[in-house]
Amino acid sequence: MLGLKEKYRDYFKIGACVSPRTIVTHADLLKKHFNSLTCENAMKYVSLCREPGKYTFDAADRIYQFAKDNDMAVHGHTFVWHNQTPDFIFDTESPEETMRAHMKLVAERYGAQCNAWDVANECIEDKSDAYYRNTKWYQAYGENYLDRFFVMARELLPKHIKLYYNDYNEAHPLKREKIYQLVKGMKERGVPVDGIGMQSHHNLYVPGIEDIRRAIERYAELGVTLQVTEMDVSVFAFEDRSSIPAPTKELMERQAEFYERCFEIYREYKGIIESVTLWGIADDVTWLDGFPVPGRKNWPLLFDVNHQPKEAFHRIMNF
Ligand code: GLA
Repeated sequence: MLGLKEKYRDYFKIGACVSPRTIVTHADLLKKHFNSLTCENAMKYVSLCREPGKYTFDAADRIYQFAKDNDMAVHGHTFVWHNQTPDFIFDTESPEETMRAHMKLVAERYGAQCNAWDVANECIEDKSDAYYRNTKWYQAYGENYLDRFFVMARELLPKHIKLYYNDYNEAHPLKREKIYQLVKGMKERGVPVDGIGMQSHHNLYVPGIEDIRRAIERYAELGVTLQVTEMDVSVFAFEDRSSIPAPTKELMERQAEFYERCFEIYREYKGIIESVTLWGIADDVTWLDGFPVPGRKNWPLLFDVNHQPKEAFHRIMNF
């Protein structure tokens, strides 16, 4: 069987998010199908550093080494975020300078193998009553606060690394427009932003395929590159808190169709889309096992709980 990464060699990289555990338990699938890795948690601020000056690189080092050994790119994730960021930063004299020291350390250690970095993650508010999400970063630096961190990243990260803004609900018309305006403003002010990461945590009900296309087209107008950074397709609508014992054939068929249509669009925009990363490898281990309903299976990925290819896999390979 051909690997996904080979099938898509002329289109874009195929990525997966991993943990120190899944690089062992899912090593075979990773080596065969993927040529880019994102640390699900290991490179987040709080995973590297919980207390001032105390760094633990072990988990990220292991993933980084696995990527190097297998000739895979690494997608850096992430610096400026409201989540999984230690509170002490905001008690330091200058949170900005604390971030600078962190960025420098992390970039020096992991920069070589990375080709893109989510400099900022999820800074736009979902609801219509605000533009920015009201985070500690926003409170500290106000309007246009991302500018300084992208400038900082450009100074500190190796030149070959593209600087990304990453967010979810990126195809939702309201948020799509806000993300567009955010990056447009940065570009107009000469801020070095290279790309937009479309997380793509989808389900069988939203977003509509045309909204996904529209997001790609709208963002592409900015002259940036794009990455699908965290794709999965849950079989449940977000508000649906029910569960079922096993995925039905019908649901898997609908999911296959959803993946197929997404990848058709992605292929149309090769050249603009640099990589498509799945937020996991196989249905046995995914963050959706704990969210939004703890302990519920959502079967969102391309390989099943036994690591066998699903219908969705066959459909995105069959073109
Ligand atoms: C967001 C973040 C990811 C991860 C997921 C849940 O999308 O960007 O790092 O935390 O939530 O796994």
